Amino acid sequence: MRKILTLEMIRANNEFRKLIDAANTNLEHMGYTEHGLRHVGYVSKTTANILSELGYEERTVELGAIAGWIHDIGNAINRKHHGLTGATLAYDALSRMHMEIDEIALIIGAIGNHEEETGLPVNPISAALIIADKSDAHRSRVRKKTFDYNDIHDRVNMAIKKNYLVVDKEKRKIRLVIFMDDISSTMDYMQIYLTRILLCEKAAEFLGCVFELMINGAVINRQKSVAAEPQLAVGEKEVSEEETASPCKSVSRSADDKK
Ligand SMILES: [Fe+2]
Ligand SMILES: [Fe+2]
Repeated sequence: MRKILTLEMIRANNEFRKLIDAANTNLEHMGYTEHGLRHVGYVSKTTANILSELGYEERTVELGAIAGWIHDIGNAINRKHHGLTGATLAYDALSRMHMEIDEIALIIGAIGNHEEETGLPVNPISAALIIADKSDAHRSRVRKKTFDYNDIHDRVNMAIKKNYLVVDKEKRKIRLVIFMDDISSTMDYMQIYLTRILLCEKAAEFLGCVFELMINGAVINRQKSVAAEPQLAVGEKEVSEEETASPCKSVSRSADDKK
């Protein structure tokens, strides 16, 4: 008998709670920032908010909240490939809770694709989860007992005094706003967040939006309009690829281009 599971039922489930705690403890021993109830609570709520603001139906919003709550449980096994292991753990646990298989498939797709090493947005929940997870950089994630100024993750997180996401459904724009003090810098932030921000751009695109990163009042990422096509000025002529190609200019396609 299949069941309609809610976020409250998932939050009340002791198995998930123990896996979240174990994941957080493992990452503490490895020197990572906070990945416990605060982080998964933020990601759960923010994933749901993004989907809700963009007008997705109530059940999709709820599934986003569930995926956000359990997205990091794979860290209970190992940090490496924790999206993939977490999805496998979630499949088993949600099946035993009798969740509908179509819903489980959406959730494990989102969990299994939330890390930049192996992930790409594959459904709206996955896309919203990526943006929610990668937007959670803040001083409250720094473990005060072990704060190390020379650790770039600690330094960047400690510098972030305020962060929030703005979803503009009409302009199709998702903006991450960050305020940092001078303990760290935009350069430090980009060193550790560049690939995550690129994944956020792809996630926003999946949702039919652009992703804008603003740090201390300055927009620092590429602005790509969904609709805008560059127009040729009077007298300009479009030159085909064949005309510009030469042995020197030949471009080898990267793996990304094939995806
Ligand atoms: Fe993660
Ligand atoms: Fe996370």
